[in-house]
Amino acid sequence: MMRVGVLVSGSGSNLQALINAAADPWFPADIVKVVSNVPGAFALDRSVLAGVATEIVDHRGRPRAEFEADLLRALGDVDLVCLAGFMRVLTGTFLGAFPGRVLNIHPGLLPLFPGLHAPRQALAAGVTQAGATLHLVDAGVDTGPILAQGTVAVLQGDTEATLAARILTVEHRLYPMGLRWMAEGRVVIEAGRAIVELKPGESRWVGGGGLAVR
Ligand code: GRF
Repeated sequence: MMRVGVLVSGSGSNLQALINAAADPWFPADIVKVVSNVPGAFALDRSVLAGVATEIVDHRGRPRAEFEADLLRALGDVDLVCLAGFMRVLTGTFLGAFPGRVLNIHPGLLPLFPGLHAPRQALAAGVTQAGATLHLVDAGVDTGPILAQGTVAVLQGDTEATLAARILTVEHRLYPMGLRWMAEGRVVIEAGRAIVELKPGESRWVGGGGLAVR
């Protein structure tokens, strides 16, 4: 059973999707620790309700190296780290402790629209489909090997909030799926790309599938 730590900063709906998936006794990973850099984040309440140990590691007013060292201590002996709405960029110091074993979910179809406010960027670009990307984290911002992506339509009259909410539903499907692949040892990185050993009927695309942008 893979031991998973989750880093959060906010609402924690992706954390909830992981907790729900892991409640299935057949799921190959356990969520054993949730660490928030934001005191009072709702993700902490979700963790407590689910009986998962929590800790707050505040980033404010301290050197990044010290913050990251504290995060590592708080995570303890986990095998893999999921970033779930964690709003800090991690450096090589942190990532070196979990080589190829840090996942992130991004509300955009990478490599398009990295960084902050991806749904806003998608609306501004006028694309007809938007979506989410589950990827391994490297030292860049939203640049690591992609595990899976999912699309949603951009609808007439969408606001940043309505589009982001639609994208979240895809995120909640992608994250448990990709975590399962990792825990089952079905992901290898070759030349900077993630190769997933798929089973019959599985796809690395959820939602609309296929090409997402005209
Ligand atoms: C999600 O849109 C995720 O893609 C982004 O931050 C948001 C977090 O939402 N990184 P939640 O905290 O999981 O509800």
